[in-house]
Amino acid sequence: MLRIFLLVLALVFLIRNTWGTQRNIALSSSHVALPSNGMEALVEMGIFSPSSFECPRRNFSHIQSKEGLEPFDHIFIFMMENSGNEVIIGNKNMSFINLLIEYFGFAAEYYGITHTSLPNYIALTSGNNWWSYNDSTEQVFDHTCIADKLEEKGLGWKNYAQSIPYAGYKGSSTYPPNSSFLWFQDHVPFLFYPQIFSNPVRAANIQPLEELEKDLYSCSVPEYVFISPDACHDMHGGSDLCPSVSLYPNNPEKLAYCFNTQNTSEDCVNINNLWKAADDFLREWIPKIVNSPSWTGNSVIVVTWDESNFNEQLDVFIQGGPDTPYVSSTFFTFDGHSFLIDGFYGGGQVPLIVISKKKPYHIVTRTKYNHYSLLKSIEAAYGLDYLGYTSDDRQIKVMHEFFG
Ligand SMILES: *[C@@H]1O[C@H](CO)[C@@H](O)[C@H](O)[C@H]1NC(C)=O
Ligand SMILES: *[C@@H]1O[C@H](CO)[C@@H](O)[C@H](O)[C@H]1NC(C)=O
Ligand SMILES: *[C@@H]1O[C@H](CO)[C@@H](O)[C@H](O)[C@H]1NC(C)=O
Ligand SMILES: *[C@@H]1O[C@H](CO)[C@@H](O)[C@H](O)[C@H]1NC(C)=O
Ligand SMILES: *[C@@H]1O[C@H](CO)[C@@H](O)[C@H](O)[C@H]1NC(C)=O
Repeated sequence: MLRIFLLVLALVFLIRNTWGTQRNIALSSSHVALPSNGMEALVEMGIFSPSSFECPRRNFSHIQSKEGLEPFDHIFIFMMENSGNEVIIGNKNMSFINLLIEYFGFAAEYYGITHTSLPNYIALTSGNNWWSYNDSTEQVFDHTCIADKLEEKGLGWKNYAQSIPYAGYKGSSTYPPNSSFLWFQDHVPFLFYPQIFSNPVRAANIQPLEELEKDLYSCSVPEYVFISPDACHDMHGGSDLCPSVSLYPNNPEKLAYCFNTQNTSEDCVNINNLWKAADDFLREWIPKIVNSPSWTGNSVIVVTWDESNFNEQLDVFIQGGPDTPYVSSTFFTFDGHSFLIDGFYGGGQVPLIVISKKKPYHIVTRTKYNHYSLLKSIEAAYGLDYLGYTSDDRQIKVMHEFFG
């Protein structure tokens, strides 16, 4: 009996170690935690070098978390733009992103809520897209958002926006705002809630990205951190200052030629440079967080994309997760192409990557999740009321694999 037990144990050990050395298997299995510690691996590679000094941790005894979660010391959300699994997984100009997918948490069946950008940002911060399917910056979302709920519990939040001229700046109300602008207002969700933008004290929580580094190193970074890279660093492009202008927004005909090829056409060089610039941005900023004294206890970094890329087949482009909106007989126009939607109109499949200090290893899940699942996980961790669709317990689940 003992021999059989030892044999089984040895086999299990062997299989686990084999998994650890194979890259591809992880993407085809579900809920598998590989034995290797991603944090240690990236330290060995010289990418991470955690601080020996840690900021004092906040006392969360007033917080009653739900669903077995614990409050996050900090949650850092990087919102990238317009790119699905199709153009990200295995993209040679996204080597850092692919490294993160290989070593940390990866939701392989994660979806945007809808198209275009802004309604996804609104959904992730208020639990609904409120019948919006466009990026018009004239829209006002007079709805309760996560910032309201966090403040009720005395918790802090900030939206750091790269290249925003100054804190609380709302700027032009046309879209695109001005082709020489690097930052797009519709990528900065907290500028759209009137209770925030019309209150200077609260609007001051929308800050230029440089402030993040100061806050990280002065132990003053808030609990909830939403990071909006500018148009040249979030894969969006579309500003005259980015390399991708003729491909905006991800021109369907050209993009497919440009993925992992040596094609030296101007468009391919541009889109590859745009991808690389976003990858480099994360390669710079994720270590800044992990190496800072604010990377304490139950801190997590989430990297995701608002919606998938516009070169996908229509049926793929509009795939969705739970509680995807139903749009009836509406014409959508993108980049001169117009098409009729009559049905469920999701945001397409996008990656969601989780780097957790508490669970610093490779986890892959194939459960269908979307931005509502991420919002609900945050609400559960801080014991907040569930906003909008996140109160739908039948459909919208907490992402226990990563955050439990
Ligand atoms: C946290 O705060 C509670 C309530 O004020 C207190 O009872 C507890 O001792 C504190 N815990 C720590 C570790 O300071
Ligand atoms: C954008 O969506 C809003 C609903 O939030 C709608 O009222 C408006 O007409 C739309 N604008 C455009 C240009 O489609
Ligand atoms: C865009 O904004 C910049 C900065 O305010 C300004 O210098 C430039 O003239 C504007 N461009 C256009 C086309 O409006
Ligand atoms: C290279 O990309 C361009 C689009 O930018 C495309 O027209 C051309 O056919 C591609 N060349 C090859 C050999 O695939
Ligand atoms: C992007 O990828 C292409 C093809 O894989 C490669 O030729 C090119 O050098 C890469 N560009 C950068 C900036 O790394």
